[in-house]
Amino acid sequence: MTAFEHFYQLFEPEHYQLFLDIDRAAKQISGKTTITGIAKQATIALHQKDLTIQSVQADGVAIDFHIDADQDAIRLTLPKAGKTTLVITYQTNLTDTMMGIYPSYYEVDGVKKQLIGTQFETNSARQAFPCVDEPEAKATFDLAIRFDEQEGETILANMPETKCVEGVHYFDTTVKMSTYLVAFGFGELQSKTTTTKSGVKVGVFGTYAHAAKELDFGLDIAKRSIEFYEDFFQTPYPLPHSWQLGLPDFSAGAMENWGLITYREAYLLLDPDNTSLTTKRVVATVIAHEVAHQWFGDLVTMKWWDDLWLNESFANMMEYVCIDAIEPEWHVWESFHTSDVPAALLRDATDGVQSVHVAVEDPAEVDALFDAAIVYAKGARMLVMVRALIGDEALRTGLKAYFAAHQYGNATGADLWSALATASGIDVGAVMHSWLEQPGYPVVKAAVVNGELVLSQEQFFIGDGKDQGRLWQIPLASNYASAPELMKEATLSLGDYATLRAEAGEAFRLNVGNNSHFIVQYDATLWQEILGEATTFDALSQLQLLQDLRLLANGRKVSFTELVALLPEFADSPSAIVNQALYVIAEEFQLFATPDSDEETQLKAYYRLVSTANYTRLGMTPKATDANDDQLTRPVVAKAALFGENAAAIADAHNLFTAYQEKLSQLPAAIRASVLANEVKQYGTEALFEKLLHAYRQSSDASFKQSLQLAITQANESVILDAVVAKFQDADTIKPQDLRGWFYSTLANPLGEQLAWDWIRNNWQWLLDTVGGDMSFTSYIQMIARVFRTPERLAEYKEFFEPKLHTPGLTREITMGINVIESRVALIAAEQTATNAAIATAVKRA
Ligand code: BES
Ligand code: ZN
Repeated sequence: MTAFEHFYQLFEPEHYQLFLDIDRAAKQISGKTTITGIAKQATIALHQKDLTIQSVQADGVAIDFHIDADQDAIRLTLPKAGKTTLVITYQTNLTDTMMGIYPSYYEVDGVKKQLIGTQFETNSARQAFPCVDEPEAKATFDLAIRFDEQEGETILANMPETKCVEGVHYFDTTVKMSTYLVAFGFGELQSKTTTTKSGVKVGVFGTYAHAAKELDFGLDIAKRSIEFYEDFFQTPYPLPHSWQLGLPDFSAGAMENWGLITYREAYLLLDPDNTSLTTKRVVATVIAHEVAHQWFGDLVTMKWWDDLWLNESFANMMEYVCIDAIEPEWHVWESFHTSDVPAALLRDATDGVQSVHVAVEDPAEVDALFDAAIVYAKGARMLVMVRALIGDEALRTGLKAYFAAHQYGNATGADLWSALATASGIDVGAVMHSWLEQPGYPVVKAAVVNGELVLSQEQFFIGDGKDQGRLWQIPLASNYASAPELMKEATLSLGDYATLRAEAGEAFRLNVGNNSHFIVQYDATLWQEILGEATTFDALSQLQLLQDLRLLANGRKVSFTELVALLPEFADSPSAIVNQALYVIAEEFQLFATPDSDEETQLKAYYRLVSTANYTRLGMTPKATDANDDQLTRPVVAKAALFGENAAAIADAHNLFTAYQEKLSQLPAAIRASVLANEVKQYGTEALFEKLLHAYRQSSDASFKQSLQLAITQANESVILDAVVAKFQDADTIKPQDLRGWFYSTLANPLGEQLAWDWIRNNWQWLLDTVGGDMSFTSYIQMIARVFRTPERLAEYKEFFEPKLHTPGLTREITMGINVIESRVALIAAEQTATNAAIATAVKRA
């Protein structure tokens, strides 16, 4: 294995002057980079990737250079160590990988256009200019750009433009910052701007393929997020502006470049007149996430990528803290509990998962670190745990000190813990150590043993897992006072159960509030007590009960039949989060029912049993009088009613489709995907497919396009799915950034599974070339493992992926994928008969 060096140890850049001349037509870039810095020794190296270096001067004298492609390096021998000014001239190309400096492609009124943008995190700044491309190598930057400019074009960068001379745009010197945060963009852009209370200019920029009103929501959220953080962190936003730029082609979701945040359009622009609350929450939290990074990530940056979680986990928690503060009515923490929490608990239960903090050196491994379920969701959960432990006041005091101590510099996890420990008096680092350095999490078993209430912890696994005797420091959050705040030991007795129960007057519970990263398995005595009270619990506790039981069933600690019996108890709940949890479980029952079998007929009846009351109450069409819970519950219940072939639901959906068939994008967004999918499933023809695909190609509304994608891939005719797969490599129809969704939903359609699986095996190299550099490339491997459920598919998966096991960045995903499929195959073999029988019984009894 190659050892990767840190070039910052050899050369410390202080200031860069970047000049770029970009020719879009020829897709060529000529650059000149002047770097002033301190050479620690005469032999130094800078990063570069795919740059054709023409000349290098050190303090005005031409010197030799050596390209070391394996290390993305240019190696130099300077006349002497010490302060040096390097001037490097080079040429390179616009890439088509959504990394480095790259064009986005789009159309306005049938005319093809381009917008140039950048994406440098984690290691693509080196594709744009030679630099020490490491987060610790902070410097100031002067950017100057010339391009084949046309009338009416706009250029944006981290800092404001100071002058434009002979077609060269000059931007103000930046503050000290990391290379991965440098950004610019240019093309035909519309914009809306405003100013925060403290005088920061805020703007949203997008192409003219969008209606102007689509910019409003993002502008409002960005402005109020900045105002919120300035107050919460008690640290001013340090730049004159905060631009939000929507790029039609974007590999990640959004990127926190300092002063110029870039977004996938789906996460910035929305139609204020037809967007679901779910989508509004998503867009708002993405914006708040990137804005949080302007402090946590940009002002203070992790020292090295092993502490990436410090950036991402924190921003992931703050996006909820911020939006909950500025839009309390949206109850945005519900999204945390229904999406981040189960994602973390599910993935973190698979042996082979990474810990939140991971040592890394290889650039390919750095990109593979961005495991959303771990670095984002689990990491955020860790911080939520800390926040619950120390409270907001100490959190704010600690953060203020942390920013003051490390601003314009770098920090590690230990620096944050020490700031929070000082502010709170609690040794946060000691508690967090067990959570951040170890993969996985515990199941706490609560049992009455010889009359005593006994707790024990052990690692929870879904599928094969090797118990290594790991222990965690668990904030128990019990409703019984005799339970300690932290459980550090393997087992613990709380005392005589009968006495405790009598004193408390209610069932024993742990992890009240669901802030800690563990699940609970109660013994039969305790579980019966809980079930007796469950219908009176608040919605979050009910959700937690269902979620924990679902995990225990997947981990084979309880039978799925218990879930089958339990769901109807919650079926009439008006709560969106309870319904969401309920239908996640009901969907798992589909694992046991072969399509078009008698078992599936029974399962559909079970779906009707569970969903009919809520469907009858809510109907298909949103109403002005809807409570939040109604808005969020309807799509979930409607989808279930349609799966259950509830005749009224099918008719309602069809009638809606008919009413809107000339203006499909105006179908109410929350139920649009279900209405379209119903039409495809029940009345699908090739003409309908053509119509929907045409609408997909024409639209620039990301949320409408997603509804169409979800609907089209529900087709129940192979010819249509064949035609879908034939479009996978046609970027004019399906942008590479959107292929993931198409691939997954085709694969998840039983009729499309073989087609999509054949496609990916036959076109693996094309996929690598096209999106192989994406931070979430490995999600393709993950999606396949999420769908496969038979021994035959397991064998095929192994045959295809095992030879790729040693590819940097893929090893973990492939290993985990095999484990996931194996455990599902075993689960189905063990539970299928009993689960299907329980479903038939439940249906008969009703
Ligand atoms: N810094 C990341 C984006 C990123 C990560 C770019 C890795 C390149 C490599 C950004 O802050 C982020 O977390 N984006 C999320 C969206 C989000 C709000 C969770 C993403 O892209 O998925
Ligand atoms: Zn982030």
